[in-house]
Amino acid sequence: MNGFPIFPEGFRFGVATSAYQIEGAWNEDGKGESIWDRFCHTRGKIKSNDTGDIACDHYHRFKDDIKLMKSLGIRNYRFSISWPRIYPSGTGSINRAGLDFYSGLVDELLENGITPLVTLYHWDLPMALQERGGWGNRDCAGWFADYAKTVANCLGDRVEQWITLNEPWMFIITGNLLGYHAPGIRNPWVCFRAVHHALLAHAQALLALKAECRDAEVGITLSLDPVYPQTSREKDLWAAEMADEAYNRLFLDPLFKGEYPRGFMNRIRLFKPKIQAGDMEAIRTPMDFLGINTYSRIRAHYAWYIPFLKFWIDGMDIPDQAFVKDGVQYTSMGQEVYPDCLYEILTRLRTEYGNPKTLITENGAGFTDVVKDGAVHDPLRIDYLKQYLGSALKAVKEGANLKGYFFWSLLDNFEWAEGYCQRIGLIRVDYRSQTRIIKDSAYWYADLIRANTARQWPESSLSNHTDPD
Ligand code: FCB
Repeated sequence: MNGFPIFPEGFRFGVATSAYQIEGAWNEDGKGESIWDRFCHTRGKIKSNDTGDIACDHYHRFKDDIKLMKSLGIRNYRFSISWPRIYPSGTGSINRAGLDFYSGLVDELLENGITPLVTLYHWDLPMALQERGGWGNRDCAGWFADYAKTVANCLGDRVEQWITLNEPWMFIITGNLLGYHAPGIRNPWVCFRAVHHALLAHAQALLALKAECRDAEVGITLSLDPVYPQTSREKDLWAAEMADEAYNRLFLDPLFKGEYPRGFMNRIRLFKPKIQAGDMEAIRTPMDFLGINTYSRIRAHYAWYIPFLKFWIDGMDIPDQAFVKDGVQYTSMGQEVYPDCLYEILTRLRTEYGNPKTLITENGAGFTDVVKDGAVHDPLRIDYLKQYLGSALKAVKEGANLKGYFFWSLLDNFEWAEGYCQRIGLIRVDYRSQTRIIKDSAYWYADLIRANTARQWPESSLSNHTDPD
């Protein structure tokens, strides 16, 4: 089994999914409507007018999906809870059937030797709460904390690790400023208020989870990518710095330093959220780990025509097909294959943010997969995995406090505004018949896990460890 990156003892490998992207059963067993249900049911919002109504039908097939995971030796699974399954109206009465579903899922995972990592919010806000202002309403923090408490009360005896929010940057900016994700709002005032309220929600949920289960380990997942200037022109260097503040530091700085990045806040001062006494201290409450989702790097350029910001980032167009440009591979999401993003982010967290304990909670790639004789040969995804994991291992050997890696995603699934044309999973899903095909990359991942189980090395030997491969 030569050639696999081997990590220190205790390093965990897993896979990740989210509720709306795989579950389907959008209106079953008392579930309420979410902002994504409403958005997808509005014509013209999603490619091919796809919806998550059925998705991978995981709600009914979760036992089979867990069997597949087990057959691949996957021992860690990150999934999310659908808030409107638990609170159909966002607050108030609890839908017992919703809790039962997740309770059954957790039991099934544990029986199969798979450790759950639960995300409380992966973008599917109850529509009823959107109607009360959604994340733009400061009360959303309290609504979220109540929901966190209810879920922890039900699952806390079996779940140890929790993620409050998934990628607040993504769901707030794309949903409330750019408008191409649910709820489809384009309003800078709402957007920047939502940033602050989401951070407060994280902080309040963290306390609620800890109060409910003392041993809970709680973190948040951020989308973090290194930012590069498009050229070495001074204006582009400035743009890269601003884009870094807007993208990476907008959440990292309040969480770890208790303050928003000044340059960017100054740019958007007209839309600045109201910060009350005690807010920043609350937001800075220490967490147990930080989840990182990283896929590539970002390139920024000066853009005089963008109001207030005056910078923009490339790669906002999503092509569907993977391609090669100037000898560099790009994924079907239009992202450059840039393995160093892992090394660079982890090293930055080590040197600038006190080296927090981290988990890669998402990383993966869409490629143009083809089914041939009942198999999917996806060498590009295997190459991607090798290179990205190699980059993470390099950071670990230099002291980065990384404890696990979760591939996005277990299954091909509903990719938000892109619908079903993106295929990012280790397992292919035929959405008509709901049959699953294990891709070559999944077999490679299974071998990697096996090699690591046999050969992980003690962390204490870090300084003199040489990789046999
Ligand atoms: C991330 C999302 C995840 C998935 C991947 C491809 O931004 O968290 O749900 O869509 O991108």
